[in-house]
Amino acid sequence: MAAREHFGGRVAVVMAMAGSAIGLGNIWRFPYVLGQNGGAAFLLVYVLSCFLLALPIFCSETVIGRRSRANTFGAMEKLAPGTPWKWLGLLTIISPLLILSYYSVVGGWSVEYFAKSLSFDFDSVNPLAAEGFFDRFISSTWKPVLTHTVFLGITAGIVLFGVKKGIERFSKWTIPALFVLIVAILVYSLSLPGSGSGVEYLFHPDFSKLGAQGVSAAMGQAFFSMSLGVGTILTYASYVKKEEDLVKSGFGTALFDLGFALLAGFAVMPAVFAAGLAPQEGPSLVFQTLPFIFTKMGSSSPWLGALVSIIFFLSILVAALTSSISMMEVGVAYLVEEKKMKRTTATLAITAFTWALGVLCSLSLGVLGEYRILGLSIFDFLDRLCSNWLLPAGGLLFTLFVGWKMKKADVWDEITNSGTIPLACKFFPVIYFLIRFVAPVGIFIVFISPLLF
Ligand code: TRP
Repeated sequence: MAAREHFGGRVAVVMAMAGSAIGLGNIWRFPYVLGQNGGAAFLLVYVLSCFLLALPIFCSETVIGRRSRANTFGAMEKLAPGTPWKWLGLLTIISPLLILSYYSVVGGWSVEYFAKSLSFDFDSVNPLAAEGFFDRFISSTWKPVLTHTVFLGITAGIVLFGVKKGIERFSKWTIPALFVLIVAILVYSLSLPGSGSGVEYLFHPDFSKLGAQGVSAAMGQAFFSMSLGVGTILTYASYVKKEEDLVKSGFGTALFDLGFALLAGFAVMPAVFAAGLAPQEGPSLVFQTLPFIFTKMGSSSPWLGALVSIIFFLSILVAALTSSISMMEVGVAYLVEEKKMKRTTATLAITAFTWALGVLCSLSLGVLGEYRILGLSIFDFLDRLCSNWLLPAGGLLFTLFVGWKMKKADVWDEITNSGTIPLACKFFPVIYFLIRFVAPVGIFIVFISPLLF
């Protein structure tokens, strides 16, 4: 078999990992989950979850990935051969594929919105018309299936090129550009009349709206946003060179991801209020609000409005792609290394599976609407299953594996590069304590709390 690939250097590692982390989770999911759970109170819990729970899981996944230099299944076979841990390996092959299926449907929506902004279709949009358009589009039969196919096709195309030429190159160029764009949108959004109430909403915590459900949603969102619990980060870490600093890369990625979510929240919420929409609108929030901002913008200068909307939907699309490639890579790495498939065959197999499931998800918002699982459409069921159960479960098991199953000396070796990084050596006891106790206990409590209250 060909030698395993590596990421080029620190910048490449952080950009690829931040590429995986920054995505629809930040721009599409974060604002509406925030809106549904009371704004500022949610924000506080979210930031805490990022550092106390998500970061330790992130470190755990990178330790397992780089130590084993294998796909998620192979990692468990190498580090804990012949034990039931192999089930964790298997679980983390399947869950990213489930996520990719519905993620690609939403990615497809951004393809449609990008195409629409290219044809200047948002010219006469008002919030009501935007809502109508969105609802009609996602519940229709053919178009969203087509855009899902396009999105998944581009994802497969990048993954086919491999780790360095595909994933690394793509993320390295697009992530910095995304930051510039989101800041521009934020500035514009804050200048809209009526945006002040949106800012206030984000700054005044109302804990009564949060509850146990809200806390678990904040944790689920933190895991989703940092791509945790399903082996994506583990797989990327398996391509990180031995001399790279894992803790710094993890911190860098977490800061990028959190920063981007906050920027997106502050870009979207004020615009939501300015448009007179309700913050708890749900998954359609971003797709209804943004066309409105762009049209408003267009009223003073049509070219500017059109240009910004093209760039904006292009960036949502690109952000989604840097994430979808990371989900696909998990399954591809598994098939190539464990089942000895060619990269092309493996990519096609994964694409076929996620495409079919994605089609079901898309249709479940329209013609297949009556088929309900636990009262939810297939699309919502998959999102709930993954974000609220599979991700936290995977995260919990990864921290238990590193904290309790692996030898402390091995964990030390990975985190401090055998004692050669002074800062990592100094903070090792804190990191190890977070991995061993704080993260697992925290996840467990939050896991069971909706059942208790
Ligand atoms: N983190 C990405 C986002 O915010 C999505 C993502 C990529 C993901 N890989 C993942 C989510 C693995 C959960 C698990 O859009």
